[in-house]
Amino acid sequence: MIHHLRAAGTSFVLDARGTAVPAVIHFGADLGELDQHALQNLAEAQRPAIGPSSIDSPLTQRIVPLMADGWSGRPGLAGYHEGTPISTLGVQHTASLRLRETRHAGLNLSLVLETIPPVVGEPDATALVAEIDIEMSAQGVVRQRLSVRNEGSSVYSLASLDATLPVPARARELLDFTGRWPRERQPQRHDLGVGTWTRDSRHGRPGHDAAFLLVAGTPGFGFRHGEIWGSHLAWSGDQRLWAEASATGHSLVGAGELIEPGEVRLATGETYRSPWLVSAWSANGLDGLAERLHGFLRSKRPLGERKLMLNTWEAVYFDHDLAKLTRLAETAASVGVERFVLDDGWMTGRTDDRRALGDWVVDASKWPDGLHTLIERVHGLGMDFGLWVEPEMVSVDSDVFRAHPEWVLSAGNAELPQSWRFQQALDLSNPEAFAHVLGQLSALLDEYPIAYLKWDQNRDLLGGSAHRQTLACYRLMDALRAQHPTLEIESCSSGGARVDLGVLERTDRVWPSDTNDSLERQSIYRYTAGLVPPEFLGVHLGAPTAHTTGRSHELSFRLATALFGHAGIEWDLTTASETELDAIRVWASLYREQRALLHSGVLVRADDVDPARQLHGIVAADAMAAIFSIVTVAATRDSAVAPVRFPGLHPDLVYRVRAVKLGEWPRVLQDAPPPWWVHGGVTLSGRVLGELGLTMPLLLPEQALVLHLAAV
Ligand code: DGJ
Repeated sequence: MIHHLRAAGTSFVLDARGTAVPAVIHFGADLGELDQHALQNLAEAQRPAIGPSSIDSPLTQRIVPLMADGWSGRPGLAGYHEGTPISTLGVQHTASLRLRETRHAGLNLSLVLETIPPVVGEPDATALVAEIDIEMSAQGVVRQRLSVRNEGSSVYSLASLDATLPVPARARELLDFTGRWPRERQPQRHDLGVGTWTRDSRHGRPGHDAAFLLVAGTPGFGFRHGEIWGSHLAWSGDQRLWAEASATGHSLVGAGELIEPGEVRLATGETYRSPWLVSAWSANGLDGLAERLHGFLRSKRPLGERKLMLNTWEAVYFDHDLAKLTRLAETAASVGVERFVLDDGWMTGRTDDRRALGDWVVDASKWPDGLHTLIERVHGLGMDFGLWVEPEMVSVDSDVFRAHPEWVLSAGNAELPQSWRFQQALDLSNPEAFAHVLGQLSALLDEYPIAYLKWDQNRDLLGGSAHRQTLACYRLMDALRAQHPTLEIESCSSGGARVDLGVLERTDRVWPSDTNDSLERQSIYRYTAGLVPPEFLGVHLGAPTAHTTGRSHELSFRLATALFGHAGIEWDLTTASETELDAIRVWASLYREQRALLHSGVLVRADDVDPARQLHGIVAADAMAAIFSIVTVAATRDSAVAPVRFPGLHPDLVYRVRAVKLGEWPRVLQDAPPPWWVHGGVTLSGRVLGELGLTMPLLLPEQALVLHLAAV
């Protein structure tokens, strides 16, 4: 049978006739209502001619690409049964599969494949059963995951199990991401020539340089144009994302967990299950892709109102002093902060980053009454309380290490793994280590009214099994959430080294980067929000001079930047002037007033004619309102820059456009502003705003102007 899944203008067609490994014959534009007869004609129309010097049947791109089916590119499944005689090893490596069963219910498909018995040896000695779950969401997002069960008589050592998706020949350009601390998710593009483009992560976390989202599209695709296919692996450990174009004309993207030799060995009856590969198609460039992916994540992880928070890290670092923190909390409450998060430095002996990880006990010398006095004050000020933890780590200078040096995650050598930020990872797949951490964290959550944990992870693993550690970390998060169902968790990893949909299945916020430099944050937001909806993305108002870059920015630019996302403050507000605090109050009340829109609307990013000027915004789902930010990331190319066009509005609605003053206006260099500015706003149709646009004041570099649009 040929299966046709359809939602939100997207079709996914899978040819599962006969016993061959099924083939995805279309993932893209909606093909309309099609019966089996029409689907068969469609499938026939896609079968290629058979060329000379090739297999003698049409080469089809199967959902598990295998050498046995004529595919000489990267296989979907690789591994071998240990102890198999060398004479039959080739059979095991290529794992010939056939379809045993297909289940189709609504937008869900489930395929069961089995190995074709080898011609030599015991028929069942090398048996495998592979299952593939394919789901299309209401937004047209397709996610798939695979599992493989060893039904053979010896251990099956899995090398790789990747989910794949064919992309049409016209998708010749690739976009993915790289970065470093604290400069995550920087885009990189190139042509997909014949060969394979592979992005491996061996950090034990996706990493600051994670590929993040692999997009293949028609050349030149942008935020608002081009046909694209984007894929993300929902996994927080080692991983491989790749795209391959074959000289046969077939192209595909694939991804799976990166499994080290011997890391996944399945005894008879054991199963390995891959992470989800989450994919979406868009005819409208990256914004169309983001809209689908945001809808998908919002449906899976609905969030409550995102509280405006203050995080103490860049305000006090390890210098935890009750009087100082109380003053900070009072100032925070006075500007409208709703959550106070005590960052690193509260545990026994944690005077710097060289000690005390793994001992999740409040330092009695800094906190004679424990955290009670601070928390009571925070609650008295009308805020709730959050606490920083780093549960997967241990310092050599800690009680837990002194008692259990064997709990360190390592490859089993006599020497400790390379130290990283002066710390080691704790092997959470060790049940005793796991129980220790769970016990200490549970005790904290039982003793104190903690609404929120900032869950940090500050090193690459560099040894031990990233596979087992990642699963154990998920189990730990799940166990704590089960014990404390209202607990919110933020995923932080030296900033943004663990931003993925695997961790977001069990956390409520990611910290995209350790930089609070607004200029850096503009591009980090622009691209991280291409997958993760803004309400999951922490963004903090930092100090006037950014700690990570030494760059200084005016308050209005920092406030405009920190409006888009889940907002917070990470600055010693006790050093801010009254004028600054007043501006922050205006911003905080704007955030509270507009967060329903900012956290539910449709993301709009536009390419401007002038590369120094960027526009991003959020348009309400019903298009009745919008908030945009025009940002100068450098000196503009032109002296009298062209009008800014506002995409994403309803063409037939008429909008009142007004500029929003965040304490002070952004800095301009002009003899006179555009006339509409003098009149305090302008009323224009969505069509005019989208097609012709609106002239802007001449902003100096590193300034941002926030505009509010309301349908009249
Ligand atoms: C790294 C995080 O990214 C920072 O925000 C902060 O929490 C520090 N760790 C604390 O050690």
